[in-house]
Amino acid sequence: MRRKIFVAAVGAVMALGLAACSGSGAGGGSGSTGDATAEEGGLIGVAMPTQTSERWINDGEAVKEGLEKAGYTVDLEYAGDDIPTQQQQIDQMITKGAKLLIVASIDGTALANQLQSAADKGIKVIAYDRLIRDSANVDFYVTFDNYKVGVQQATSLLVGLGLLNADGSAGTATGPFNIELFAGSLDDNNAKFFFDGAIDTLQPYIDEGTLVVKSGQTSIEQAATLRWLQETAQKRMEDLLTSTYSSGDKLQGVLSPYDGISRGIITALQNAGYGPTITDGLPIVTGQDAEIASVKLINDDVQFATIFKDTRKLADQAVISASAFMAGETPEANDTEAYDNGVKVVPSFLLQSDIVYKDNIQSLLIDSGYYTEAEVQAGQAG
Ligand code: BGC
Repeated sequence: MRRKIFVAAVGAVMALGLAACSGSGAGGGSGSTGDATAEEGGLIGVAMPTQTSERWINDGEAVKEGLEKAGYTVDLEYAGDDIPTQQQQIDQMITKGAKLLIVASIDGTALANQLQSAADKGIKVIAYDRLIRDSANVDFYVTFDNYKVGVQQATSLLVGLGLLNADGSAGTATGPFNIELFAGSLDDNNAKFFFDGAIDTLQPYIDEGTLVVKSGQTSIEQAATLRWLQETAQKRMEDLLTSTYSSGDKLQGVLSPYDGISRGIITALQNAGYGPTITDGLPIVTGQDAEIASVKLINDDVQFATIFKDTRKLADQAVISASAFMAGETPEANDTEAYDNGVKVVPSFLLQSDIVYKDNIQSLLIDSGYYTEAEVQAGQAG
């Protein structure tokens, strides 16, 4: 269905004779990907947070490709997770004559000035994956159902511990199990949605004593990981092992909101003598993004699960929404309630995600062409 709309949108743009613009080449580092200037179809600025996480590279490339196919010129920028860099990049996109902005923010509260300049020039803004907060000038939001992602993360933890079966029925394990909780970066609006979805799912088990957060660190502030950094998560896991698990108590599960964080946690656990695999007693660790390194770890019985958010679909949705705005229309939303950015409820298009376990890597990731079998075996995307 989405494909159809996408094709129709592309067709419409082509019919208007706006096709065949040359785009900027994909570049490296944290900087610009070209010297794009406004051309026939119009210049669209795409601001991405960082290239340290694979998903944003895939997102950036897919959005750029889709927009170029639809006849637009693209200025794709990565900000190296540095807030002033992202602010500058967006300022420059506006100066270069961008007609629309697609922004995956680093700090969702730090772009109000840029968005005001955009609005003053009549430039529409689409928040990509992460909501931009505290601004009336966010016109649309394309993302996944972030609360549900959190529910899926917690569900995979329960499945790994044997408290639930993958089909949702009750498992045979009884616990009690010691677990620890990790959350994402507090300046990313998604982090709270993931954590809320996860805690709402785990709370009944915590209340009945089946799950025990032994450190007592249950608030999102205590669990947070600034900028989603792997090293930061590894350090916190090391500290938790020292403070809470050095006198014989064993840890059985860790809620992790992102694959990079998961790998930091796993390294800390293995260094402390757990594992090296789940079969050898490595705790159940969850994740998000289906990064290739983590998919390999899942295939090797090291990480238990991840959440697959198909960035190709999100990119398609961004292109469809952008094409609608560029044609003077309003993009179709499928949620007009969930995402209040502090100033207004931003009309949104939410996509669905899937839990990846070892036994559905093939059907979800390989059969869909997201990765090849060889990439999964090697743990590196080609
Ligand atoms: C995204 C996640 C990602 C995280 C870290 C979040 O905003 O929704 O997919 O794991 O950022 O990059």
